[in-house]
Amino acid sequence: MTFELTEIDHVGIAVDDLEAATERYRRLLGVEPSHRERVDDQGVDEVLFAIGPSYLQLLGALGPETPVGRSLAVRGPGLHHVAYRVDDVGAALAHLREEGARLVDEVPRRGSRDTLIAFVHPHAMGGVLVELVQER
Ligand code: CO
Repeated sequence: MTFELTEIDHVGIAVDDLEAATERYRRLLGVEPSHRERVDDQGVDEVLFAIGPSYLQLLGALGPETPVGRSLAVRGPGLHHVAYRVDDVGAALAHLREEGARLVDEVPRRGSRDTLIAFVHPHAMGGVLVELVQER
């Protein structure tokens, strides 16, 4: 293998109301937001809570015609994707392509926290939308 999964990077949860959800997580789980960012090309506002080496990610849609907006309309709020941290997202994508896995992103793009990311289609991952994250 030319790459390695090193940690769970984050679990992404789609929410209707980002401020209310952030407050609820803070109140119920005693966690404080460690990062907020608007990622325009993904159409989301996100709040991250650091949990050990990983994050819990709350995702609010910037509009109904965004990926998270469509997911909220079809499935409602809830688990949206699981992100694995890898040491080389380009190598991971090349391997997945070689294996015939269906990809959402053919090439890595910029994610929040200035990471490099790529999404893998749920069809390839047992019904779970998977994101690969490389820190840099
Ligand atoms: Co994510």
